[in-house]
Amino acid sequence: MQPLSGTVFLLISGASQGIGKKIAETFAPLLKPGSQILLLARNLEGLIDTKNNLPKYLTINTASIDLSTASADDLTGTMTNFLKNDEISKFDQAMIVHNAGSLGNIAQKTIEMTNFTVWRQYYDLNVFSPAILNNVFMKFFGSQVKCKIFIVNITSLCALQPMKSLAYYCSGKAAREMFFKVFAAENPDVNVLNYSPGPVKTNMLNVVCQDVGDTEVKKKFNELKDKDTALSPEKTVTRLLQVLVEQNYVSGDHVDFYDIL
Ligand SMILES: NC(=O)c1ccc[n+]([C@@H]2O[C@H](COP(=O)([O-])OP(=O)(O)OC[C@H]3O[C@@H](n4cnc5c(N)ncnc54)[C@H](OP(=O)(O)O)[C@@H]3O)[C@@H](O)[C@H]2O)c1
Repeated sequence: MQPLSGTVFLLISGASQGIGKKIAETFAPLLKPGSQILLLARNLEGLIDTKNNLPKYLTINTASIDLSTASADDLTGTMTNFLKNDEISKFDQAMIVHNAGSLGNIAQKTIEMTNFTVWRQYYDLNVFSPAILNNVFMKFFGSQVKCKIFIVNITSLCALQPMKSLAYYCSGKAAREMFFKVFAAENPDVNVLNYSPGPVKTNMLNVVCQDVGDTEVKKKFNELKDKDTALSPEKTVTRLLQVLVEQNYVSGDHVDFYDIL
């Protein structure tokens, strides 16, 4: 079954800005009437702005939620608010895009990362929350026989390559990606993609250019900016869509924007 075909339930985390916003704006016009979208992030204004750019024939809901503190019950409640029990069976497909994420402290070197609370808070948002949201999503759709499930985890080159001063981010992306690889192995009927979007012109990239502690890494990121070689959100999301449609990956794979499949 082609991704985004039939009547689709689409959930995107971190849809208030950046890559998540562009995913919503690119995927929504491909959906047929009867499909439903749920956009999550903290900034309600940003979510509403995203919603206003989407086709009016779709059912689009927004929920302002802090994913770093939301429990499984909170996430279940949020989904229940917008997804009536008797409507779940109408969907041919359910897709979740785990896009929300943060950088954490990018000034510190590994040797300075001594505070358990800071570690936990970083992992709460970037590792534990997508894992738990995924499990909640599966509780809704996993037992629906006719419903094909697609899971997209927005990962990073940093999941594979160490970058100085980015140890929270690199280790978090690696752990999050491995969770989805294990999930893919355990759930062969679910289609799982770990998509690495390349360097993308968003607020996150600006913050790295400005604040990253290591001078070598800072220089590398600022070169991307100076030479204008970072990608637009549109370019990387178009590639994500192409990867999904062509299906030249094995479920659980890490696929980078620059990979030739
Ligand atoms: N930009 C790049 O070069 C790049 C490269 C590789 C991978 N990525 C990955 O791509 C994804 C999107 O990044 P981006 O560049 O679009 O960054 P961004 O512009 O900073 O967007 C991050 C999104 O995550 C949401 N978010 C952050 N903390 C949250 C929280 N506590 N609760 C709920 N939502 C939260 C933000 O919404 P609110 O602030 O409204 O909550 C926002 O919508 C991230 O996973 C990032 O690691 C980005």
